[in-house]
Amino acid sequence: MLTDHWYAVTTSSELGAKPVGLRRLARDLVLWRTPDGQACCAVDACPHRGAALSRGRLHKGCLECPYHGLRFEGQGACVAVPAHPDAAIPPALHLSTLPVREAHGLVWVFNGQDPKVDIPWDAAFETALKAEGGVFVDLSDHFDVSYLRVMENLTDYHHVAHVHRRTAPVPAQVTAFSARRDGLNVYVQGTLGKPGERGHMKASTHIVAPCLAQLDFGGLARFAVCATPIDADNVWLFARYSQTALRFPGLEGLLTRLLGAFDYRLLQRREDAPIWRSQRLPDPADIGRYTLLPADEGIRLYFEIHQELSQ
Ligand code: FES
Ligand SMILES: [Fe+2]
Repeated sequence: MLTDHWYAVTTSSELGAKPVGLRRLARDLVLWRTPDGQACCAVDACPHRGAALSRGRLHKGCLECPYHGLRFEGQGACVAVPAHPDAAIPPALHLSTLPVREAHGLVWVFNGQDPKVDIPWDAAFETALKAEGGVFVDLSDHFDVSYLRVMENLTDYHHVAHVHRRTAPVPAQVTAFSARRDGLNVYVQGTLGKPGERGHMKASTHIVAPCLAQLDFGGLARFAVCATPIDADNVWLFARYSQTALRFPGLEGLLTRLLGAFDYRLLQRREDAPIWRSQRLPDPADIGRYTLLPADEGIRLYFEIHQELSQ
């Protein structure tokens, strides 16, 4: 798992009146909001005797531990020890927090101390959606696979004709395929089938390593995907859907919701995930055992970046 990157850990709407406990980035985290609305994040263990702070409450503008009531402000400073209200608070009782930002309706945590990189997002992609009057539908859930198997799948156009042959039949041949790298970005384009062939469709994917992808299928459906590691073998998979294939006034939300459910719950959960689970690599990040095809070039580039970032 790569350090010093921003990862989407949950949606902004999940942070409300109570602390939230999440396992992400191979750590148990607690997230909460200060009274002025700032999102905060720390390791979910009280510096006193280790109780999970996510079981506590928000009280007097602070995160309060459920065990002995120590209170912490948003930067992690311990500001109250109820058993010794008049004593100086030792520095060891301060909570170490992680950098947090909110953007695009998501809460992002930086798994390092000094964020020098931006939150990964393709603003042009979202602008295009808004210009089309697109309606967004967000879906997220846990999958018991490495995030790397998901990222690998996002530029893999030639699996669709096989894994999804009953649900989303498309031509197996990928034409006009290209993949290029620019920094942490991988841009992939391809066409399923030949012009005039049934199911012929252009697809493009923009990956921002390590965990973001934005996909466009023929300009008719667009997805943004964040594949955030929960740990080495589990992923929190967030997907934002928009579509312009079916436009009936007043029904855009419903139709986009149907598209999201079709892709997320049927194609990914029922059809892709069993294949992802079956891909066993001793090291999920080492694809040295693969024999890649030209149509896998986006995958090769993604893992090239991943390896560089790991060093
Ligand atoms: S363990 Fe948190 S206050 Fe004691
Ligand atoms: Fe798939």
